[in-house]
This record gives sequence, C-alpha cells and structure tokens, in this order.
Amino acid sequence: MNRNVILSCLCAAGVSFGAHAAETAPVAMEKQIEVHGENYVPGMGEIMGATQMRHAKLWFAGKAGNWDLAGYELDEIREGMDDAVKYHPVFKKDAPIADILDKFIAQPLNDLESAIKAKDNVKFRKSFDHLTRACNECHQAVSQGFIVIKRPGTLQYTNQEFAVRKN
Ligand code: HEC
Repeated sequence: MNRNVILSCLCAAGVSFGAHAAETAPVAMEKQIEVHGENYVPGMGEIMGATQMRHAKLWFAGKAGNWDLAGYELDEIREGMDDAVKYHPVFKKDAPIADILDKFIAQPLNDLESAIKAKDNVKFRKSFDHLTRACNECHQAVSQGFIVIKRPGTLQYTNQEFAVRKN
C-alpha cells in the first residue's frame, strides 16, 4: 500500500490525524530519546571516526597554540577510547581492547597531556607523532593494519576557529 492510499484510508475512517499527532508527538520523541540513551551502543567504527576528527582537531589546536582547545580534544579522544573499552571490550575474537589500549596508547596520551599543560610546542609535536604511531600499532594488533593514520595536512574544519580568541 502506498502512502496516499494509507492516508486516504485513515481519513475515510474519520481518524483526526492532526490533533492526535500533536498530542502524541512529544511523548513519542521523549521515548525515542530514552531508548537511544539507554540502549544505544556506538559501533567501533563510529567511535574511531569521531577519534579521527579529534585527532585532526588536536593537531591544529596545538599548532595554533590554542592549549585550551587542545586539552579539550585530548579529553574527547580519551573518552572515545574509554567507550571503545566499555562497549567493545573484545573486538573480534582475539583482540582484548582494554589490554591493547593500555599497552599502546596510555603513554602517548599522558605525554600529550603534560605537553599541553606545559604549553610546550616541541613536546606537543613529538607526543602527537607518538600518539599517531600508537593508533597505527593498535590497528596492526587488531588486524586493521590497512587503516593508517598520519599527521593531518590541511585543516578541513573551516567552520571552526582554531586560533586563540583575542578578547
Ligand atoms: C584499541 C586499539 C585502537 C586504537 C588505540 C586506535 N584504534 Fe582506530 N580502530 C580500531 C579498530 C578495532 C578499528 C576497526 C573498527 C571497525 O571495523 O568497526 C579502528 C578503525 C579506525 C578507523 C577507520 C574508521 C572508518 O570508519 O573509516 C579510523 C579512522 C581510526 N581507527 C582512527 C584512529 C585514530 C586516529 C586513533 C588514535 C588516536 C586510533 N584509531 C586508535 C582500534 C584502535
């Protein structure tokens, strides 16, 4: 049955469509948000897609000496990694994400944090490259070695200011 047929059936049956929809729509939306909030599990690929964005933004924030923004992006990367462990403790049979994560990424994340705190440009670049290597080491460890992360070239997020706000 196509949509027009369904609609005309409803009208013919005297269903007051508009009024009913207006009453139930907000409730339905609330339910949807509830369900989404409690049961929604982000896929590993989704978490990683967001991590890729953060990784790029982190680079441009650090490059611009915007340490507040860099610190924020680093926190977001950490949260993504926490989600990876929480939702995908084992990625495909023999890849215990929690162990692998600790092995590869804990150190570069901590180094980056102290570089950002110290507003140390040289240390930032070094630990950023270390983080990038760690991304790839993990990809290799979980048989995703074809996903290769590198320093970003040009900034893609032209709708966001990366320089420190002047006022
Ligand atoms: C714990 C190991 C681990 C670490 C650390 C890790 N990744 Fe991943 N990454 C994965 C796995 C597993 C996949 C494959 C996900 C899938 O197939 O659903 C993946 C996939 C990806 C993808 C492909 C997503 C897509 O849809 O194209 C990107 C991009 C990515 N990771 C970026 C990063 C970046 C950037 C870092 C470092 C900041 C990083 N990853 C660190 C395990 C890791």
